[in-house]
Amino acid sequence: ILDKQTIETVKATVPVLEEHGKAITSRFYQLLFINHPELKNIFNQTNQRKGKQPQALANAVYAAAANIDQLENILPVVNQIAHKHRSLNIKPEHYPIVGENLLKAMQDVLKEAATKEIIAAWAKAYEVIADAFIQVEKEMYEETEQKDGGWLDYRPFQVVEKVKESDVITSFYLKPADNGLLPEFEAGQYITVKVNIPTIPYTCQRQYSLSCKPNKEFFRISVKKEKGIAENPDGVVSTYLHESVHEGDTIELSAPAGDFVLNQADKPLVLISGGVGLTPLTSMLETVLHEQPNREVYYIHAAQHENLHGFKDHVKQIAQQHEQVHAYTIYEKPEETTHCDKTGFIDLTWLQSVVPTQEASFYFCGPEPFMKTVYQALQAWQINEENIYYEFFGPKGSLE
Ligand code: HEM
Repeated sequence: ILDKQTIETVKATVPVLEEHGKAITSRFYQLLFINHPELKNIFNQTNQRKGKQPQALANAVYAAAANIDQLENILPVVNQIAHKHRSLNIKPEHYPIVGENLLKAMQDVLKEAATKEIIAAWAKAYEVIADAFIQVEKEMYEETEQKDGGWLDYRPFQVVEKVKESDVITSFYLKPADNGLLPEFEAGQYITVKVNIPTIPYTCQRQYSLSCKPNKEFFRISVKKEKGIAENPDGVVSTYLHESVHEGDTIELSAPAGDFVLNQADKPLVLISGGVGLTPLTSMLETVLHEQPNREVYYIHAAQHENLHGFKDHVKQIAQQHEQVHAYTIYEKPEETTHCDKTGFIDLTWLQSVVPTQEASFYFCGPEPFMKTVYQALQAWQINEENIYYEFFGPKGSLE
């Protein structure tokens, strides 16, 4: 428990730190990788380069600090991060390393403004925040291990089949190399893939949503080959998976994690995806047919054009076979001859023309600009926040 003075000092300095938030976390990561180069094997170095991860971490630390005397207020945020940490095997012994380098970074950036008193208060606060994460993660590790077919750390999986879903998306069907049981997972969850790429000096880990319904036979991930744009090179891991991992090869996976999951509510389900954001939502579509066969489903997918439209025939077939499933396609730039339900981008007027009710569960996932557009449309429609579910691929972005 923190004393009153510490709480006051921490809360009073949150705005100052927030102002320098990105500078501090950028410095933090610099220090972290100088002092602990082995952690390059854990952190996604592409996210580092883009600066998104430092921002996400900064936001989380300051949100926690602002709520330091009532951390339960931010439990949903802690949970979401803890799922990712668990899927990456972050351990209690990692926390003091992060704490030490974060405090050093604060001192480096704030200089004399970071008084001894302030640093001491933040050291105590960090410990409280770290303990909260460690506790939540401990329970997640226990739960993961105890599940039938569950495992800790990484487990080798064999690629039993590779299927092209669009010009840029390929599915990998994966079975445990030990032929053991697969654990149950929830539609919408992801796994971490760990690969050693010969040209990269550290291990790479990436999260991919499971794109199939839970089943006892296999996992399926559907990976978009990320093409480089401007100064960003091609996706390191996605390119490696597409080009160098073949049927019969083995990759390592951690057990399913994540809190962006299908609910069992007694109301229609609206699944809105952009590009490869369709993966968790396709899993939800397959799952709901199985678990709630009478639930109305609106599956809306936006792609640039037909050649980039993953699972096109699969979803079309599902919609033809199940009258409760209504599937719509939006192409940004369709060829003149291709059919779609809307061209350009999704907007509220169109959404209201296909979804007949506000009383539905709205799930969305896709590139950040797409997510902003969808979120703003839902807000304009005055959809209750409780009925809105979304997931960012990669470090949490902004919907504002
Ligand atoms: C991801 C916060 C401690 C390793 C994240 C994310 C946040 C975060 C906000 C992004 C979540 C997302 O992508 O959805 C925190 C906070 C910590 C903490 C507030 C301390 C209280 C640690 C520690 C480690 C660690 C001790 C291990 C040394 C990672 C990694 C990721 C991550 C590897 C994945 C993102 C990437 O690779 O770019 N954390 N974290 N974190 N965290 Fe932490």
